[in-house]
Amino acid sequence: MGYNVQVTDGIYWLGVNDRRSFIFERQWPLPKGMAHNSYLVVDDKCVLMDTVENAEGMDYLGRLKGVLGGRKLDYLVINHMEPDHSGGIDAVLRAYPEVTIVGNKKTREILYRYMAEEPERFMEVADGDALKLGKYTLRFYLTPWLHWPETMMTFVEEVGLLFSGDAFGSYGALDGAVFDDEMDATAYEGEMLRYYSNIVAKYSKQVLKALDKLQGVPVKMIAATHGPVWRKDPGWPVERFRRWASQESEEGVVVAVGSMYGATLTMGELLARALVESGVKKVILHDVTKSHLSFVLRDVWRYRGLCLGAVAYNTEMFPPMAQLCDKLRHIGLADRDVALFGGCSWSGGGVNNLKRFLEDNKNLRLVGDPVEMKGRDVNVVENDIRILAKKMAEAIKR
Ligand code: FEO
Repeated sequence: MGYNVQVTDGIYWLGVNDRRSFIFERQWPLPKGMAHNSYLVVDDKCVLMDTVENAEGMDYLGRLKGVLGGRKLDYLVINHMEPDHSGGIDAVLRAYPEVTIVGNKKTREILYRYMAEEPERFMEVADGDALKLGKYTLRFYLTPWLHWPETMMTFVEEVGLLFSGDAFGSYGALDGAVFDDEMDATAYEGEMLRYYSNIVAKYSKQVLKALDKLQGVPVKMIAATHGPVWRKDPGWPVERFRRWASQESEEGVVVAVGSMYGATLTMGELLARALVESGVKKVILHDVTKSHLSFVLRDVWRYRGLCLGAVAYNTEMFPPMAQLCDKLRHIGLADRDVALFGGCSWSGGGVNNLKRFLEDNKNLRLVGDPVEMKGRDVNVVENDIRILAKKMAEAIKR
């Protein structure tokens, strides 16, 4: 591969774009692909910062060799052991058997579970430890549970460059432009939030802890393992991660509907229209049988209002809605206004199941009275739906 991208003096981006995978972690769609970023610091000592999942991709090893220019690789820092970053460790060790792996106590534990043989050289670092390379000094910050227990960040003190691991990362391949100053980086916001809500959200408290730890660190550039490198405005992804981790929401409503034959969907359509007529500027309707969970989670995490509408299936919650509700419970959605509705043919279970979900999730607030429609004549419940929409519109304006 004929390009090496310099981040700053002596520090290079060695990322690999995955444009072929349809899904990440075998569950999250990748309509815009995915960048797996690795970096190389060339100093008196040369350091590789994480690897990539597929060391064959984009001639990763060839580019590494090219930038090293005959120098030996002294260290491989592992900020995160998940296989999308550690997948290339074996290949790097085969090419550079003398390399010393740098990680924390937890890294070592997980690394040894993944390796065919224990690496010969492992340097264990603790929070705040430093490693002098020559003109550059690496400082290690342990930031556990972002989103694995071993996650840490590495800071190049002299240039203020933070290798942040998955934190501040995003779905989406890099289309030639690697840095935020080479693109409209705000275009990554949707994919960054989808990544956050899908993968990191459960660990939002730990994200806030990590951000607090970084408060006094003079970060001038952020190089995450996914998405753009932030060297013009590193505060942009930090601000978003802080907002999302704090569950700050925007004024808007997601209507998520699970409907079998369309009656409950018709209720959802009417509710969406009534919300708009009640003054809500941002309304998104997801048919949960069609919208991938990944995108529903993204929108639910963004907006303050959530209207859940579902039928029952054999008296239990309709499975696609059950999957959404279970995931919302799992990632700890909180501080949202939630309205409920659903159709009923014979059991009345659709709304009842949603009520149980809300009773079990005390951090969500019920808005108005749940609306149940018996049969399919939406005119019978139109007034109730309009009342519900008004209450929701008032609730999210708080
Ligand atoms: Fe990008 Fe948690 O792996």
